[in-house]
Amino acid sequence: MSQQDRPSRTTEAFFGRRRGKPVRPQQAAALESGLGAYRLDLTAEAPSELRTLFKTEVSAVRLEIGFGGGEHLLHRATEAPPIGFIGVEPFVNGMAKMMMAVRAAPLANLRVYDDDATQLLDWLPPASLDGIDLLYPDPWPKKKHWKRRFVSPVNLDRFSRVLKPGSKFRFASDIDTYVNWTLLHCRAHGAFAWQADEAADWHRSYEGWPGTRYEAKAIREGRRPAYLTFIRT
Ligand SMILES: C[S@@+](CC[C@H](N)C(=O)[O-])C[C@H]1O[C@@H](n2cnc3c(N)ncnc32)[C@H](O)[C@@H]1O
Repeated sequence: MSQQDRPSRTTEAFFGRRRGKPVRPQQAAALESGLGAYRLDLTAEAPSELRTLFKTEVSAVRLEIGFGGGEHLLHRATEAPPIGFIGVEPFVNGMAKMMMAVRAAPLANLRVYDDDATQLLDWLPPASLDGIDLLYPDPWPKKKHWKRRFVSPVNLDRFSRVLKPGSKFRFASDIDTYVNWTLLHCRAHGAFAWQADEAADWHRSYEGWPGTRYEAKAIREGRRPAYLTFIRT
C-alpha cells in the first residue's frame, strides 16, 4: 500500500482510496476549474437558506453522498433544473470525471464537496435538506470492518438533524448484511420510518432510476440490489 493509498486519518467516516490512476492533464484542468466553480467552501458560514448556494433559482436541495463517477447525480441534476443538488465525493478520479462532464455541460443547480461527507453534514443548517441519497456506500462486508460503514448511529443523528421532516433518506446496496444493518439502525434510531408496502418494494428501483456504475458491476456479478426509502419523521 503506497502512502497515498493509505486511509486518511484526518476524516471521520472516509476509509477509502483518495486516488486511483493518475488523472490526465485534461481531467486535472477540469478538476481545478470545476472545483473553483462548484466546490462549497466550508470555512465560510453556511447560509441559513441553502437555495442561495446555487447560481439559479431552486425550490429544494438534495444531497448525494459518495457519487462515484457521478452518473446518477448528473442524471438527476440534468433532469430537474429547479432542484439544487449537492454531491460529495472524496475520490479524486470520481470528482475529475464529474468535473469533465460539467465542463462540457455546466449545471447551475449543482454544488460539490470533495472530502468526507460528515464535514458537510456538520456544516449544514438544521432541517435544510429535502433528501439524502446514499447509493452503494462502501460495503465493508467483513464483520471486523462493519464499524466503518457510513450508516451508523452518529451519522443517522447527522441525517436527522439536516433533513426536513417528511423528506427522504434513500439507501441502495447489493450487500444483504448492509441492507439489514441499515434497516436495524434506522429502526433503532427512531427518526426514520421505512417506507415499504410489501417485501417486493426492496427490489423495486427508485422512480426514474438511471442505475449507477457500481450497481451495474454488482448485477454483472450476480448480486441483487435493494432500494430502501426512509421518511424523516
Ligand atoms: C462503492 S462506491 C459507489 C459509488 C457510486 N455511488 C455508485 O453507485 O457507482 C462508494 C463511494 O463512496 C465514497 N465515500 C466513501 N466514504 C465516504 C464519505 N465518508 N463521504 C463521502 N463519500 C464517501 C467513495 O469514495 C466511493 O466513491
